[in-house]
Amino acid sequence: MRDLQHFDVSGALLDWYDRHAREMPWRVGPAARAAGTRPDPYRVWLSEVMLQQTTVAAVRDYFHRFTTRWPTVAALAAAPDEAVMGEWAGLGYYARARNLLKCARAVSEEHGGQFPDSYEGLIALPGIGPYTAAAIAAIAFDRAETVLDGNVERVMARLHDVQEPLPGVKPVLKEHAAAITPAKRPGDHAQAVMDLGATICTPRSPACGICPLRPPCLARQRGTAADLPRKSPKKPKPIRHGHVYLAQHSDGGWLMERRPDKGLLGGMLGWPGSDWSEAPAPSPPFEAQWRELPAEVRHTFTHFHLILRIHTAPLEVDTAPEGLVIIDKHAFRPSDLPTVMRKAFDLWRGQ
Ligand code: ADE
Repeated sequence: MRDLQHFDVSGALLDWYDRHAREMPWRVGPAARAAGTRPDPYRVWLSEVMLQQTTVAAVRDYFHRFTTRWPTVAALAAAPDEAVMGEWAGLGYYARARNLLKCARAVSEEHGGQFPDSYEGLIALPGIGPYTAAAIAAIAFDRAETVLDGNVERVMARLHDVQEPLPGVKPVLKEHAAAITPAKRPGDHAQAVMDLGATICTPRSPACGICPLRPPCLARQRGTAADLPRKSPKKPKPIRHGHVYLAQHSDGGWLMERRPDKGLLGGMLGWPGSDWSEAPAPSPPFEAQWRELPAEVRHTFTHFHLILRIHTAPLEVDTAPEGLVIIDKHAFRPSDLPTVMRKAFDLWRGQ
């Protein structure tokens, strides 16, 4: 057992990271960094945006596809909106993709294709908030910024045995994280805390026996680790309902809607349908003998559960009704659809 005041937390974390850093496609590991390799800010930025609310496992393939198709921020800035939204489909939180494009274009057009190398410069860009600005400044430019994500919050709550609940206690956890942010190797340090949270100081069954912060950890000493961080009770999510309409032409084309940029699934392709509410009125895009499928889509968004009823009919006209588009059979890629719309398509296909 060691007193927190007299324990070199960051030193222990960096020693541990030197031996156990996870390999990631966007990461310059500690040995390469020590040898002078600098991370590519474009790859750091892209990975950090993708990793918000999303696991490393889910991000890997997306990151690979994005960087293969658009290897530089200039290439991404020049991409058509629809191509980027299509590649993002399935990752969720689509405002991230719209902001990604805005940010790439701002970096290309206003910063000569170079990301600013400070927190202040980065946070002024579209779609870059406090977390992402700190993460890029630390990881890509070795600035001594404090990175606070869910992993770091958990590590700090346990290290200091913080009993007050999230989200209210966030500023306290940030102060604890700031107090151990080192002037040397802040980029490795930030990634070390996150890796520790993801692999050792895990939400359930933390591996305290092999943790480099075991000596000073107050939660370990007091047996509270499994209960931390505490969280204020969440409001239950309401259930909303909706109707979607899948209409296919005999030539294979589909009647679809490009959703407006603002709002949920903004900018994404989807099936035309009703609004989503407690009891929405059916709103078919054209008059026909619509047939309802016997199965429903169930999908959970951040603030509500959604149940969608699926209706189908043949599309017998060659021009789309106002506000809709016909997507040719060769242009239609189910992988371009956000997950909720993809689920409707999969149910139609499996009927
Ligand atoms: N989670 C989000 N960004 C990360 C990073 N750079 N390293 C480890 N985990 C992360």
